[in-house]
Amino acid sequence: MALFLALETSCDETAVAIFDDQLRVLASVVASQTELHARFGGVVPEVAARAHLERLLPVLDQALHQAGVTLGQIDCIAVHHTPGLIGALLVGISAAKTLALAMDVPLVGVNHVASHVFACRLAAGRDIFPCVGLVVSGGHTTLFDCQEATRLIPLGATRDDAAGEAFDKVAALLGLGFPGGPAVEREAAYGNPQAFRFPRALLRDDRLDFSFSGLKTAVLYALGGQNNANPAPPPPGPLRADLAASFQAAVVEVLVTRCRQACQHTGYRRLAVGGGVAANAALRSALQTMAEQEGLELFIPPLAYCTDNAAMAASAVEYWRRGEFASLDLDAVPTVT
Ligand code: KG4
Ligand code: ZN
Repeated sequence: MALFLALETSCDETAVAIFDDQLRVLASVVASQTELHARFGGVVPEVAARAHLERLLPVLDQALHQAGVTLGQIDCIAVHHTPGLIGALLVGISAAKTLALAMDVPLVGVNHVASHVFACRLAAGRDIFPCVGLVVSGGHTTLFDCQEATRLIPLGATRDDAAGEAFDKVAALLGLGFPGGPAVEREAAYGNPQAFRFPRALLRDDRLDFSFSGLKTAVLYALGGQNNANPAPPPPGPLRADLAASFQAAVVEVLVTRCRQACQHTGYRRLAVGGGVAANAALRSALQTMAEQEGLELFIPPLAYCTDNAAMAASAVEYWRRGEFASLDLDAVPTVT
């Protein structure tokens, strides 16, 4: 049995996981930086990188302790090296290279976005490929033809804001704080999703792309902000809840419709949805309903595997089996081109 140690530092979670070649997760530790970034209303790249530096070794120790293993027992180091904030990625990559060199074990570079789909495979405990994959997070809203765990062909992506980014921006408009997704979801529970008919952009377009910036602007206009980029947020009450619920309903409808279309387009009967926004209960339940109607098998990870973590880098096992290792000049690639 081979043991893997994986590092994730692409954005604002410092995470280390230990898993084996049978995809059994022995430890998954995540140190969130939410409290550091909250007062800025979003993730500050420099603050994130410095916090990774402080936290990575304690998180690594905790993961080893949780798994009951020593560094000497690790057979392979995996690291998310793309995409993400460059300074943040570099902390994880430097640590991974140092460990691989010092322990004389191979290094594997894993794509963070592909890992959000692999989180579905990990949680399912069985093969889910080929499938349609939707990664819906703070940085990405992308549909993939997932031919294999390590072979994802993009089918469509957002042309502007990611869905999670829209949640965060609308939360700021509504005075709900950061991170916006969970706050909007909580507020939406008290509102009427039909109170406002917000736009469902591009749905009649043949390409499987997304656009969420117009939706955010529509919420701004509903607040009376046409001539004022920073209108006062509505006070707590029915209006604020209705705006949150109507916004969430628009995002959910677009995401679910696109997933249905992508399954029809590819002919796949399996749909895997990952990323932070997949933690949203309204989205999870709408996807479940659609999957039942269409006869699709739906894979959504539990909440801890929706948001950023290092266990989802377990596709490293496949690279390791094929002997596809990274060299010590592995670099951070901040965006996918
Ligand atoms: O995958 P993730 O942890 O980090 C990225 O790779 O971006 O996703 C974070 C995003 C944030 O925009 C956050 O507001 C959103 O996921 N999010 C949610 C929920 N939980 C997190 N959005 C909607 N509803 C939620 N419950
Ligand atoms: Zn992510």
